Amino acid sequence: MLKIAHRGAKAYEAENTLQAFQKALDLHSDGIELDVHLSVDGHIIVMHDETIDKMTNGKGDINTYTLAELKSFLVAEKYQIPTLNEVFDLVDKKCFINVELKNADTSKQVVSLIEEYISEKGWNYEHFIVSSFDWNALNEVQNLNPKILIGVLTEEDVKEALAFAEDIKAYAIHPDFQLLNKENVKQIQEKGFLVFPWTVNSEEDIQNVKSYKVDGIISDNPDKI
Ligand code: G3P
Ligand code: CA
Repeated sequence: MLKIAHRGAKAYEAENTLQAFQKALDLHSDGIELDVHLSVDGHIIVMHDETIDKMTNGKGDINTYTLAELKSFLVAEKYQIPTLNEVFDLVDKKCFINVELKNADTSKQVVSLIEEYISEKGWNYEHFIVSSFDWNALNEVQNLNPKILIGVLTEEDVKEALAFAEDIKAYAIHPDFQLLNKENVKQIQEKGFLVFPWTVNSEEDIQNVKSYKVDGIISDNPDKI
């Protein structure tokens, strides 16, 4: 049962910060999950929303700011917004990284960065899963590099996600945990895909999805898994 820290260990530190990812490592997570967007000058920025409004002392869309400008804003009054490179360097192969593409325009840059870390820094394909609700973005990733492991995100229909996963030869399906039961988890696994539900936080929900024998759980508090 893999423990995957949602946006870092979000229950303990400001989400999607280096501090949240360090906390996830301290809690011995098997993987971390994070979200990405592009800055106006093409850097891969780790943040959930497409604006900086919720998490920083600034306002506006991430894709209207340069990296230098984004670095001048504070998350939770003390931290900087990280780039994807900075998270990769912090994690340094200690666990795998689930990169969630929030927009199709990030596919190329994320694939290039993963390829760079594999060819130049000793990482391997098992260190990365690229997921998205935007299945066109996943098609693009698969076309760019079919070796990259793909997680098909769904909050609506497990059957459709399973059909798409078969189409693109995905690695895993990442469903909203409320869509799951013992039978559909078994169906997905029998087709050869892993099942990583999100975002499972309460003790009761964790026990329930564990009883379905999922392969891993994406949680704000991975230490409770
Ligand atoms: O990747 C699973 C989960 O993070 C998807 O939802 O809104 O937390 O990005 P969200
Ligand atoms: Ca996410």
